[in-house]
Amino acid sequence: MQLQISNLNKTYPNGVKAIHNLNLTIQKGMFGLLGPNGAGKSSLMRTIATLQEADTGHIQFNEIDVVQDKVSLRKVLGYLPQEFGVYPRISAERLLDYLAQLKGVASKKDRQKLIDRCLEITNLKDVRKKHVSGYSGGMKQRFGIAQLLLNHPKLIIVDEPQQFLM
Ligand SMILES: Nc1ncnc2c1ncn2[C@@H]1O[C@H](COP(=O)(O)OP(=O)(O)OP(=O)(O)O)[C@@H](O)[C@H]1O
Ligand SMILES: [Mg+2]
Repeated sequence: MQLQISNLNKTYPNGVKAIHNLNLTIQKGMFGLLGPNGAGKSSLMRTIATLQEADTGHIQFNEIDVVQDKVSLRKVLGYLPQEFGVYPRISAERLLDYLAQLKGVASKKDRQKLIDRCLEITNLKDVRKKHVSGYSGGMKQRFGIAQLLLNHPKLIIVDEPQQFLM
């Protein structure tokens, strides 16, 4: 299991060079990205997560060419963004069910099993009927983990995870 990043460059239209000729190989296990505000950590993570494109460079996750084959990478990816934006006013359970459908879990029974497991891991079982919009910050973070686990990801990217580790 290996993630290999070669010669990655990204300059935003406003001229900010967020990623400058990055070469990095990450082996199986946990890898932490430390750097000051604006260093380009989130930019790199969004690029690996196929949410934005680099100007040049190559990203390979095992046999998947991430730049060429975004769909294959998304199938094995669990991603927690730094900011989630707006949370809909539906229960955690229903939102997870919706997200699981988007991730391609067609069977209602399979989804229920998966959702129960994800809620259990993230300790959200007791509040599964509550609206996510009304969750506390820490609970929202844990919901973020629950949703990223839905497809049994091989590659997990969490941006600023210290918010829920503390
Ligand atoms: N969409 C964008 N358009 C223009 N500039 C951007 C955009 N996104 C990020 N930047 C700029 O790119 C640089 C890197 O930002 P990025 O968010 O990747 O840093 P970061 O290391 O994640 O920072 P933080 O620790 O504060 O989360 C910053 O100078 C930022 O202002
Ligand atoms: Mg960031």
